[in-house]
Amino acid sequence: MENKIKNLINIKSLNNEIIEKIVSRAEFFSKNPYSVSLEHKKLAFMFFENSTRTRFSFEVAAKNLKMDVFHFDSNVSSLSKGESFVDTLNNLEVLGIDGIILRNRTSDLIESGVQNSNLSFINAGSGSDFHPTQALLDYYTMKKYLGTVEGKKIVIIGDILHSRVARSNIALLNKFGAKVYALAPLAFQDKTLSGVTWEDSLDTALQGANVVMCLRIQKERIEENIDFDDYIKNYQISNCEMLDGAYLMHPGPVNVDVEIASSVLQNYDKNLILEQAKNGVFIRMAILEMLFGGALC
Ligand code: CP
Repeated sequence: MENKIKNLINIKSLNNEIIEKIVSRAEFFSKNPYSVSLEHKKLAFMFFENSTRTRFSFEVAAKNLKMDVFHFDSNVSSLSKGESFVDTLNNLEVLGIDGIILRNRTSDLIESGVQNSNLSFINAGSGSDFHPTQALLDYYTMKKYLGTVEGKKIVIIGDILHSRVARSNIALLNKFGAKVYALAPLAFQDKTLSGVTWEDSLDTALQGANVVMCLRIQKERIEENIDFDDYIKNYQISNCEMLDGAYLMHPGPVNVDVEIASSVLQNYDKNLILEQAKNGVFIRMAILEMLFGGALC
């Protein structure tokens, strides 16, 4: 079957039909993790920012599909001798690499790769813009528990300004008719975002919520001093009762006792945070199959 999708850069490029096919295939892989072989397909992992969940779940996904995985370490590569990124990609291609899993602190690198090389690219997180596989695994997780997100109140709380997870989730959830709300201190707001209603207090934001998605304060992207005491007082999920039965999500890693109190993380029975990480393997298997196996589209 002809591959129609070569790259996954931004969730906005996927239509609803393809997203539902990815989710349905992820569900299949959750029950049949070793059922498909993409033997001899070769992936290079280029992570210029740190990662645990995305990197490992892509690696587990690829190995479940019997793909070959190669880790590119920029510190011991010829990038450190001044070789350009595009020349690096061209060399990886002639060595037999089929696709690149790329994470970077800005989006220009993956855009340059798509424009200047023949390889397939999957965005594993770029800058504050795009994290499409996170949005897909979050959507898959929500669907498992809510059935549908249409008409459901999804509340995103925290450092929205710097969050590629927030931008990707807002874009995807709007495609499926969710009611998306946001709450953040002034310093973490981005009022240019469309498809989201801003709340001004934790009380009103949590009222009637079906899902509460907290975001990490991204200290590595913030130069100003952060008033953690103010954040904890006004934005922290500090006890289970506040959630009033809503599902609790967070892309991770969590700043424990900042966004969410440790007692909530340990005791809340609708905490889906580890389930999100687990579902990342199956979503990424579906995406790898779509790009490198010719299935789905
Ligand atoms: N959610 C997420 O992207 O986590 P990592 O940074 O650990 O990959």
